[in-house]
Amino acid sequence: MGTYDAKLRVWRGDDDGGELQDYAVEVNEGEVVLDIVHRLQATQAPDLAVRWNCKAGKCGSCSAEINGKPKLMCMTRMSSFDPADTVTITPLRTFPIMRDLVTDVSFNYEKARQIPSFTPPKGLKPGEYRMAQVDVERSQEFRKCIECFLCQDVCHVVRDHEENKANFAGPRFHMRIAELDMHPLDVVDRREMAQDTFGLGYCNITKCCTEVCPEHIKITDNALIPMKERVADRKYDPIVWLGNKLFRRDQT
Ligand code: SF4
Ligand code: SF4
Ligand code: FES
Repeated sequence: MGTYDAKLRVWRGDDDGGELQDYAVEVNEGEVVLDIVHRLQATQAPDLAVRWNCKAGKCGSCSAEINGKPKLMCMTRMSSFDPADTVTITPLRTFPIMRDLVTDVSFNYEKARQIPSFTPPKGLKPGEYRMAQVDVERSQEFRKCIECFLCQDVCHVVRDHEENKANFAGPRFHMRIAELDMHPLDVVDRREMAQDTFGLGYCNITKCCTEVCPEHIKITDNALIPMKERVADRKYDPIVWLGNKLFRRDQT
């Protein structure tokens, strides 16, 4: 496919409102959506707001909705669209608009701050940590997260229900809680907080978060479902319940 003019429809506006605007922008072989947005900015819309950093799928900044699907603009090839079709680019729907394609994602940082950090047993110093290789490998998948928040954006619990944001951390942060709860050296029991403070029960394992993750992390299968099982064990298994009462994990 050689050079052609793509039909682009881009949302322009701010938190007071806005609208979709149509543009025709040149596309060359091998380009991605972010290239076209940058060309639009350089040639026709110098005031267009767009957030990006690495252009390599690693910083998680260029998240947007392309034809209604949450994606990274720098990892979406223009060759994946028919040149005759219009490509619509809108900001992430779940977060407040700042301007044009830029949203305020502070919801995510607030949730991140609320999660108690890794807590090793008292007296164990860095360098003395010992754990099985299988436990190291399990958490490595979760640590591939680039914090693009596409999973947070797509999750229906908050996407259409602003009122749930106070009580639901979202898939990225339930994955973080699961990662820490699975850590053999973490002494905090995170099961109750996952359910009661961070709203794990709202998740009905639709797997939409997994489908949009650019790092292909199996968020639902490997983090959310195992975490739900751990919560269920604690809540409904009488032996586990009694064990928890009698021998709570040492937090001192
Ligand atoms: S699986 Fe759970 S967290 Fe993921 S999108 Fe569905 S409801 Fe949200
Ligand atoms: S889990 Fe995947 S989709 Fe969610 S923030 Fe991390 S990289 Fe993005
Ligand atoms: S610009 Fe960094 S992920 Fe797209």
